Amino acid sequence: MRQHVNPLSRNFNETERIPSMINMFNDSKLNLHLDIGCASGDFLFDLALINTHWNYLGIEIRERLVKTAKLKVKDRKIKNLYFVFGNANNILSDEQSKFVFENLKSISFNFPDPWFKKRHYKRRVIQQDFINELSNSLQKGSLIFIKTDVKDLFDYMDYTILNNLNFKKIEKKDFNFSESFNPNKVQTNREKYVIINKLDVFEGIYIKND
Ligand SMILES: C[S@@+](CC[C@H](N)C(=O)[O-])C[C@H]1O[C@@H](n2cnc3c(N)ncnc32)[C@H](O)[C@@H]1O
Repeated sequence: MRQHVNPLSRNFNETERIPSMINMFNDSKLNLHLDIGCASGDFLFDLALINTHWNYLGIEIRERLVKTAKLKVKDRKIKNLYFVFGNANNILSDEQSKFVFENLKSISFNFPDPWFKKRHYKRRVIQQDFINELSNSLQKGSLIFIKTDVKDLFDYMDYTILNNLNFKKIEKKDFNFSESFNPNKVQTNREKYVIINKLDVFEGIYIKND
């Protein structure tokens, strides 16, 4: 399976729409966490099974992974987890998707594709316009979590988020994880690999102020 797809390819202009909350979740009133670039969704399956008082939504641009994850949700009859296929930048910019921000408490970008070459930076999922749009749509107090093992990518994402003055950084030591979407600090697949291989993990937590 291809590991990297170009999100700017015309293939992703047409994407799946996010269904209404009641079509995605059994209890549409629960707090919602969104994981962008969720790959196979293993991280979200772990979270959804442990934290049944949260709803989880994953967006992933590799269609085959999303199809498999959706079948798994159906087989296991999980009612607080949903996956959407497509380019997260396009999906969340779509006016028709704005309803998700009513329940959305947090967004994670876990180990996003680094796109090392400068001419490919525009393919990175975190872009200034996207962060500005999130800032306009997210409610006050909502959180963004980023993690990566690539220092340059971390610096770029940290700069881009903080360049929007509506976001403020929270020190990890001051953050109460027990009240977040991930109280048990479940790890993503990439994170497990990074830890086994003793690579560095760079992470940031940002809160929407106004
Ligand atoms: C390096 S993988 C990390 C997967 C997972 N988050 C983890 O930590 O194990 C990055 C994932 O983001 C997806 N992705 C990249 N750009 C995306 C975009 N614009 N919208 C949705 N998914 C995207 C890729 O297809 C890939 O599955």
